[in-house]
Amino acid sequence: MNAAIIGCGAIHEMHARAIMALPNANLKAVVDCNEERAKQAAEKYDCKAYVDYKEMLKDSEIDVVHLCTPHYLHGVMAIDAMGAGKHVLTEKPIAINIQQGEEMIKVSKETHRHLCVCFQTRYRNSSLKVKEILDSGKLGAIKGIKGILTWYRSEEYYTGSHWRGKFETEGGGVLINQAIHTLDLMQWFGGEVEAIKGHVDTRVFQDVIEVEDTADAQLYFKNGARGIFFATNGYSDNAPIQMEIHCEDGILRIEDESLFLIQNDEKKALAHNQPLEGAKGYWGNSHKKMIERFYRGIQNHDDSIYVTGEEGLKALQLIEVLNKSSRLNKKIYL
Ligand SMILES: NC(=O)c1ccc[n+]([C@@H]2O[C@H](COP(=O)([O-])OP(=O)(O)OC[C@H]3O[C@@H](n4cnc5c(N)ncnc54)[C@H](O)[C@@H]3O)[C@@H](O)[C@H]2O)c1
Repeated sequence: MNAAIIGCGAIHEMHARAIMALPNANLKAVVDCNEERAKQAAEKYDCKAYVDYKEMLKDSEIDVVHLCTPHYLHGVMAIDAMGAGKHVLTEKPIAINIQQGEEMIKVSKETHRHLCVCFQTRYRNSSLKVKEILDSGKLGAIKGIKGILTWYRSEEYYTGSHWRGKFETEGGGVLINQAIHTLDLMQWFGGEVEAIKGHVDTRVFQDVIEVEDTADAQLYFKNGARGIFFATNGYSDNAPIQMEIHCEDGILRIEDESLFLIQNDEKKALAHNQPLEGAKGYWGNSHKKMIERFYRGIQNHDDSIYVTGEEGLKALQLIEVLNKSSRLNKKIYL
């Protein structure tokens, strides 16, 4: 299958490398409205450069489009690409609001094009092992889940970008950009969330950005489990994400990129996440696994092996409810 990447910024290289490593894929084009960026990427990957994505969409040989653009463009670009007959893999979040995400899913159904959302952290060794153990039921019922993200973002991270830090273009702050992966994993592990009582705040960048840099919440799962969530971009370092799943017969803990099982005062390592050379550690090394699944899903007409639009929408729903709960200062049911 021939692929094109739209957006040649920070994350696009993870997609380019993964596509080039796949036996059934070929990177045919890159697009960036910044001509210099597009040209540089095209030279590096020996493919065609475009500045206007609509021109690229006219190439009937392109089968799959990867969206590595700012959040507000995911909706419109995905809909245009599916309308032009392409399958779409969008970086997270699916869109900047639920309505746009639902529209994308509708177009995917109408056009029979595959739509995948980039939640690569589901394919980390630690996440896959947790999911396997929870699904086996061998630790009994889930009683609680904790997800804690404490990362560092500088003032320049926001002031140096035309789209970050603004509701119109980023759609939110630490929740929609950084912690969306943690919320996705919490609901993937714990099942449906029934209600949320949460709070968002701008504590470090209050004079710099419109959106939140810190958020916390109590999640109430349908199965009765309690969820604790905390996320901030106001720490001094990109600390490894901490997650814990408290089950009747043991605790699963992800810390320092390893998964441990704690039972009867014994702590046993079950899995470790491999870092990827030349990439930011907290992105993980799972883009390749995720992209491989998507291409396999397209070829085998099987959307059960990748994160579909519907699946990708779930974390965004949690974010919208958390924000509403903060605005109204009350527990909100989904
Ligand atoms: N999955 C992950 O772990 C992960 C990690 C980092 C970023 N991301 C996501 O990837 C996306 C991009 O983030 P980034 O950090 O690479 O951003 P970035 O700002 O570094 O890059 C975005 C690129 O898109 C280009 N662009 C903007 N408008 C365009 C248009 N109309 N047509 C063509 N190109 C256009 C910009 O010129 C820029 O080169 C975001 O959705 C972000 O949330 C995901």
